[in-house]
Amino acid sequence: MREVWDDKFSGKDYFFGTIPNAFLVDQAMRFSPGMSALCVADGEGRNGVWLAEQGLDVVSVDFSKAGLAKARELARSRGVSVETVCADLLSWDWPNAAFDVVVALYIHFPEGERSVVNRAMLAALKPGGVLVMEVFHPDQLRLGFESGGPQDPELLYTADGLRHDFADAEIITLEELVLTRSESRHAGKKAAITRLIAKRQ
Ligand SMILES: C[S@@+](CC[C@H](N)C(=O)[O-])C[C@H]1O[C@@H](n2cnc3c(N)ncnc32)[C@H](O)[C@@H]1O
Repeated sequence: MREVWDDKFSGKDYFFGTIPNAFLVDQAMRFSPGMSALCVADGEGRNGVWLAEQGLDVVSVDFSKAGLAKARELARSRGVSVETVCADLLSWDWPNAAFDVVVALYIHFPEGERSVVNRAMLAALKPGGVLVMEVFHPDQLRLGFESGGPQDPELLYTADGLRHDFADAEIITLEELVLTRSESRHAGKKAAITRLIAKRQ
């Protein structure tokens, strides 16, 4: 899979564009300069760079070297910086209680691995820190994947599954919805998604 993502990110253009995720931008009131943020599977950095532009100290982790190189380039072009870490999330030595914000946008793992990564993301937050997550829901199947996403149903996330994995957290928002994407390469297309905002207690 690493090679597949390196290949997607090896072009001159930004595969998912450079506009940050709309749900993340909607949460701007939760972020303030000087906060620390971990952008999990940040790809080419559209979300990590936006957080850096809001004044946060950002670490972007992804296993695609090509993606992270473009994230650094995007940051440079915007006059900010992000620290990039090239690592497989399934074997990474995750930081503990280190971040005010963890962002997980469009990352998809099968059930066993998913709960390991979800627990690691929660543990990476300081107490009181907030996780922002948006992922594809199984209804993408019904929509015919017009907005992309993994076609293996095992890789799609329900609110119930996330409620289970984040049972130790305070759930601020947990919803399943169909919307029209306003950014990414699928702008204008319908997407079935699951969204979570959870606070580490
Ligand atoms: C759909 S892209 C989303 C990128 C970014 N979050 C965004 O919204 O633009 C999925 C990302 O997950 C990364 N990824 C997938 N599996 C990974 C793993 N096991 N460890 C680290 N990164 C992974 C890929 O390299 C890719 O950047």
